[in-house]
Amino acid sequence: MKQIPVILFGAGGVGSALLRQIVNGRSLHQTRNQIQFNVVAVCDSRTWQFDPAGLSDQQLLDIVARKAQGEAVGEKRPSNLETLNVLASAGLENVVVVDITAADGLEPVVDRALALDYGVVLANKKIFAGPFDGAQNYFNNPRVRHESTVGGGQPVIATLRYLLDSNDPVHEIEGQLSGTLGFICQQLDKGVAFSTAVAEAKARGFTEPDPREDLGGMDVMRKVMILGRMNGWPLQTSDIEVESLYTPELADLTVPEFMAAVSSLDKAIGQRVAEAKANGQVLRYLAHVQDGKGTVGLKAIPASSGLANLKYISFRTDNYNDEALMICGKGAGVEMTAAGVVGDMVDLVREVF
Ligand SMILES: NC(=O)c1ccc[n+]([C@@H]2O[C@H](COP(=O)([O-])OP(=O)(O)OC[C@H]3O[C@@H](n4cnc5c(N)ncnc54)[C@H](OP(=O)(O)O)[C@@H]3O)[C@@H](O)[C@H]2O)c1
Repeated sequence: MKQIPVILFGAGGVGSALLRQIVNGRSLHQTRNQIQFNVVAVCDSRTWQFDPAGLSDQQLLDIVARKAQGEAVGEKRPSNLETLNVLASAGLENVVVVDITAADGLEPVVDRALALDYGVVLANKKIFAGPFDGAQNYFNNPRVRHESTVGGGQPVIATLRYLLDSNDPVHEIEGQLSGTLGFICQQLDKGVAFSTAVAEAKARGFTEPDPREDLGGMDVMRKVMILGRMNGWPLQTSDIEVESLYTPELADLTVPEFMAAVSSLDKAIGQRVAEAKANGQVLRYLAHVQDGKGTVGLKAIPASSGLANLKYISFRTDNYNDEALMICGKGAGVEMTAAGVVGDMVDLVREVF
C-alpha cells in the first residue's frame, strides 16, 4: 500500500467535498489502486490543522462541519510557503499538494513543492493564467495535474493531453465554459430580463459572491487560455478579446449597489436578444481560440443548433477535422470539481510516485 501524504490549501466548497470524498473513497483507493491518502494538513486562508502522521477521518469530517458553520479550520498557521517548509522539515516524501483556493500568488508554493519533488494538483486556475513566461513551467509538467481548472471535472484536460500525446494537432478550441453564463443565457431565451436572470443565478448560488467575477468573462478567459497554452500557443491576456457583460461604470460599486444597478443593462442586452430571436438565433457566451488568438463573449447562434443547449468543449484537430471532438455534459459543482481533483491525485501517484 502506498502511503501518500496530502496537504490541502483551501477548505471551502470544493475543499470540503474533497475531504468527504477522500474519507468515503478509502476502501476503493486501497483495493483499486493500493493507495492510502493521509491528509497531513488542511489549511484555510489563515488557520490549519496539521499532523505529520495524518489527520483521522473524524478530524477531517469535523473540519468539514466547522467550515459549514463558517468557523476556521483550526489554529493560526504560518504563511503558505512556511507551511510547506514545516512539512518538508517533517521529512515527508511523495507528498501531494492540492491548491483548491481561488487565491493569487501561489506560484512560490507550487515552485517549492516541485523543487521538493512533490506532486501538485490544482483546481485554482490562477497560476496557469499569469504572464506566459512564468506560467509555461506548469503546463505539461509531469508533476502537475489540473483537470478541474476547466470543465468542472469533465475530462477536458485529459482529452487534450491524449490528443497532444497521440500527435493529433489541435487547430481550434471552442466551448461554453461557464455554467453560470449558460444559465443566464437560457433565462434570456425565455424573455427574462438580464438583471432578473443575474439575481436568480446569484440567489441559486450559481454565481461567485460577486457576480461580476462571472459576468466580466475573466474566468472563461482563464479557462480558454489554459487550453490554448497547453496546446502550445504562447497566449497572453492581450491575445484574447474578452466581452464583459457589465459596463465599466458598474465596476467599482459594492455588490449590493451593483445588484441594484444591473437593471441599467437590461435594455441593451434585451435588444440583442430580440435581434437574435428575429433571426432564429439565441445568445450564448462562447470562448473560441484558433491560431494563437481568441475571443470570449456573447455570440448569436441558431436556436435549432444542438450546441445551443449543451455545455460543451470542442477540439478541431487533424483527425477530428470535419467533425470536432466534443466533451459535453453536466459541468461544475463542488462534487464534480472535487472528483476531478481526486482523479488527478490518483493519476499522479500511479504515474509518478
Ligand atoms: N465551486 C465550483 O464549482 C468550482 C468549479 C471549478 C473550479 N473551481 C475552483 O476551485 C477553487 C475553490 O473553489 P471553492 O468554490 O471551493 O471556493 P471557496 O468556497 O471560496 O473556498 C476557497 C478556500 O480557499 C481558502 N483560501 C483563500 N485564500 C487562501 C490562501 N491564500 N491560502 C490558503 N487558503 C486560502 C479559503 O479560506 P477561508 O475559508 O478562510 O476563506 C477557502 O477555504 C477555485 O479556484 C475555483 O475557481 C470551483
